[in-house]
Amino acid sequence: MNDMARAQDLLQDASRTAAGAGLEAFWMPFTANRHFKAAPRMLSRAEGMHYYTPEGRQILDAVAGLWCTNAGHCRTPIVEAIRKQAGELDFAPTFQMGHPLGFELANRLMAILPDAFGQAFFCNSGSEAVDSALKIALAYHRMRGEGQRTRLIGRERGYHGVGFGGISVGGISGNRKHFGGLLAGVDHLPHTHNLEHNAFTKGQPAWGAHLADELEKILALHDPSTVAAVIVEPVAGSTGVLIPPVGYLQRLREITAKHGILLIFDEVITGFGRLGSPFAAQHFDVVPDLMTVAKGITSGTVPMGAVFARKGLYEAFMQGPEKSIELFHGYTYSAHPLACAAALATLDVYEDEGLLTRAATLASHWEQAVHSLRDCPHVIDVRNIGLVGAIELAPRAGEPGTRAFDAFIRAFQDEHLLIRVTGDIIALSPPLIVSADQIDDIVARLRSILMRLA
Ligand SMILES: Cc1ncc(COP(=O)(O)O)c(C=O)c1O
Repeated sequence: MNDMARAQDLLQDASRTAAGAGLEAFWMPFTANRHFKAAPRMLSRAEGMHYYTPEGRQILDAVAGLWCTNAGHCRTPIVEAIRKQAGELDFAPTFQMGHPLGFELANRLMAILPDAFGQAFFCNSGSEAVDSALKIALAYHRMRGEGQRTRLIGRERGYHGVGFGGISVGGISGNRKHFGGLLAGVDHLPHTHNLEHNAFTKGQPAWGAHLADELEKILALHDPSTVAAVIVEPVAGSTGVLIPPVGYLQRLREITAKHGILLIFDEVITGFGRLGSPFAAQHFDVVPDLMTVAKGITSGTVPMGAVFARKGLYEAFMQGPEKSIELFHGYTYSAHPLACAAALATLDVYEDEGLLTRAATLASHWEQAVHSLRDCPHVIDVRNIGLVGAIELAPRAGEPGTRAFDAFIRAFQDEHLLIRVTGDIIALSPPLIVSADQIDDIVARLRSILMRLA
């Protein structure tokens, strides 16, 4: 059965019963399953800046899939590398064994990271990267005889994936409330979003650096010597694009360094060129101790994540008998050959096309374009940095989230545009190959949606 026939079958199934018999078996993640299955939105093919539906509609991708496909979709060199690798070395264990691609990739990554970084630990997703980084932080302190450092500090509205570590340090209540007691010994910084002070700021807000000083209060409460790590997204993405105030990240760095606490930047979204530098650490000129990445590492083609460790961390583990395992942590698919091949080919594309810095050259066009939506109905804020944008809408009374969700449905159905919404915030993060004309097109389609939105 070809794609079109299969999708038509599913659509027929879906219309036969409200429950959508043919769609029931797949329990979809982070999805309103019943709503989706009553009127499915299917994607069957992709190329460059576009998705295609089974009926052949071309959809302009304004969110790089899910903040993933920074190089654009189905790029030939990446596709070819994956194909070739699948026929050469399908799987190889990396527990007590190795394959050359894992080492090659780690070295290539070090070349685009700040000099301070020395090692890459591989996993398969952002969630795994976060849980790995938290475990590495805890184990690092223990290795150095500071095993009392067990507390972790995240931030309100933070998103760090869906593992128990990630939801514990994360600060999105909906992602936490159903799942019991979570990790013990976790505290949270306040988030930095404030429309009263910062609405319609272009780039980093001037107001809010003092919110980093709240860390000192949290540390005073718990005793700084009990804290292992502070984890933040340099730019919070999934919660609706919260851009750090000028000086805020620098302040977090100063306070954590002063107290011997590790600073973890979760760069799952900001990594690989999103802000106009390879990583947010370079963009903001703040070097954390650990960094988590995923998504853009393979431009979304094969699942992969990684933790990057600052020089010195790994060395702290290299003690004890030489034949003993230093870190009791890893995944069957850590440095999977297909993921490594995809990542290496992706890095080639990024390099050949200057994609890791391209967002910097488009940033001012992007900024003007997204801020032109400021006069549309319901818009209470527009914010931007690099090739990231957000349009915050006033919530409908008693129905939070429904206005932006309607915009999302209309974008797909009427304007053939893929956007992402969180609460009443529309988030935008196009592939880094986007042209200036396509930026204008995204904004024109959004204007048309917003002008008609109830
Ligand atoms: C900052 C951040 N951390 C972690 C994750 C989790 O990544 P994954 O969905 O690959 O587990 C995400 C996903 O959006 C993210 O934005």
